[in-house]
Amino acid sequence: MAVIDKLSIHQFRNLTNQYLTPSKGINLFVANNAQGKTSLIEAIYYLGHNRSFKTKIIKEVISFDCDQFQISAQVGDSRIKLEKSKNKNTISINQQRVNNTSQLSQILPTQIITPDKGFIVNGTPKNKRSYLDWGVFHVKQDSAKTFKTYNKVLKNINILLINNQAEALDFWFLELAKVSAAINKNRLNYLQQLKQTSLSEQSKSLEVLIDSLDQFDYQFSSGWPKEVDETNEQNIYQYLNKNKQALLKAKYLNYGSHKANINFIFNNKKECFLSRGEQKTLSIIFWLTQVLLLINLKTKPIVLIDDLSSELDSKKINIILQFLQSLKVQTFMTDIGHNLSTLDSVNPLVFQVDNGVIKPHD
Ligand SMILES: Nc1ncnc2c1ncn2[C@@H]1O[C@H](COP(=O)(O)OP(=O)(O)OP(=O)(O)O)[C@@H](O)[C@H]1O
Ligand SMILES: [Mg+2]
Repeated sequence: MAVIDKLSIHQFRNLTNQYLTPSKGINLFVANNAQGKTSLIEAIYYLGHNRSFKTKIIKEVISFDCDQFQISAQVGDSRIKLEKSKNKNTISINQQRVNNTSQLSQILPTQIITPDKGFIVNGTPKNKRSYLDWGVFHVKQDSAKTFKTYNKVLKNINILLINNQAEALDFWFLELAKVSAAINKNRLNYLQQLKQTSLSEQSKSLEVLIDSLDQFDYQFSSGWPKEVDETNEQNIYQYLNKNKQALLKAKYLNYGSHKANINFIFNNKKECFLSRGEQKTLSIIFWLTQVLLLINLKTKPIVLIDDLSSELDSKKINIILQFLQSLKVQTFMTDIGHNLSTLDSVNPLVFQVDNGVIKPHD
């Protein structure tokens, strides 16, 4: 169960030196444009993922004229700290250095809801996979290792294909088939649980966000052609072998778990036919369903919400916040300020952000 009791941010974007004690419930950060709202959300996200949702370039997030940033938090019994510069990447938990990000993500599971991340309904396959795999990771702890192995094996296969080394392929095809079948099982299993959660009583209160939520469905496409049984490693292996010559000609593997996708269907309409508003709102419902599922599975994430008041009216924002409040999820949300009084019902702890300085609101 994740709750940030204390947070400190040093030289991250325009947040030069900030220290705050958030509430366990809803925290609201109010500011005009360009004061540091997204930077704050990005900093918390960074701490939970060891990466940004906005950029891959470290230099961009380090404050101008500085050469490193530092973010740390007290999360229950754990003190987690991330220090990064162009050449340094230090993660420590309770003052012990650790090498992998997944420990950080387990202590601080973070679900972000923002247009900056790209909506998942009618979103890119990459975005959809990241949505799905974030859930798989939190449900199945060894999945991070499985994904890493998959990527390594895929890379090797592509090198062999480029260099036309047909004889060495067999070993790696077997390896890929094994890991891919495991990934597919995990993804299918998780999606099944997600579907059940979205149909459960608990998520009923979200239905009011959308005018006519009669039915929706998500169909998983594993990235393998339809004729392949995606959970059967033998079958995947046979398919790869059968198509060896075609692959050597193509010089790369253009199917597999790295091409997986989810197709959303709403009231019998494919996602591309939905209005922009429907796509947005459904994406938010699916993000929140994931939060609900993880809570049911005893992993309580924190939720970051940025820039939603530009997307949704205050009635909808209230519904979302009331939902999160009923789940007792710690939430960090930003707002331009015009919605302040309409959010009274969730009794947020309000902070003011002025030119990179975060202070309790008076
Ligand atoms: N590396 C950096 N160092 C210092 N300042 C930066 C850095 N990167 C961005 N900024 C600046 O930080 C300021 C705050 O940006 P941020 O995106 O957090 O604003 P915001 O409050 O979310 O604004 P908006 O309401 O427009 O979304 C901006 O003026 C931006 O140019
Ligand atoms: Mg912003």
